[in-house]
Amino acid sequence: MAYNKKILDHYENPQNVGVLEDGPNVGTGMVGAPACGDVMKLQIQVDENGKIVKARFKAFGCGSAIASASYAASMLEGMQVSEAKKISNTVIANELGLPPVKLHCSMLAQDAIEAALEDLKNKKIINNSLEEE
Ligand code: FES
Ligand code: FES
Repeated sequence: MAYNKKILDHYENPQNVGVLEDGPNVGTGMVGAPACGDVMKLQIQVDENGKIVKARFKAFGCGSAIASASYAASMLEGMQVSEAKKISNTVIANELGLPPVKLHCSMLAQDAIEAALEDLKNKKIINNSLEEE
């Protein structure tokens, strides 16, 4: 099976691997793929204007999951949160040329982005209510 060059690049030299220190402006998404048990953790840090300044991931999974997370994280940096919501797994899968059996790996990346954004949203609500007291 011939994987395209982009996926191999992201697999061999994953970008944005790491962990961000938790804080009010850091959203963390941790998701698992029921199909295979792989796990992905994605963290995004936003500035006061809702721009994503940093994205980091850890993936305990297959090469396609690592490549998907790497590609997603590198794409996220510099984006507005509102744009990040629109990243779908099909964009990731098409860009990396994932074969059909590996589509759920890119789904993991989409789920991780959604979970990280959700966390951020929840935190903001918590922080705002704390500030009002
Ligand atoms: Fe996920 Fe093999 S099933 S790495
Ligand atoms: Fe399960 Fe790739 S095989 S995430």
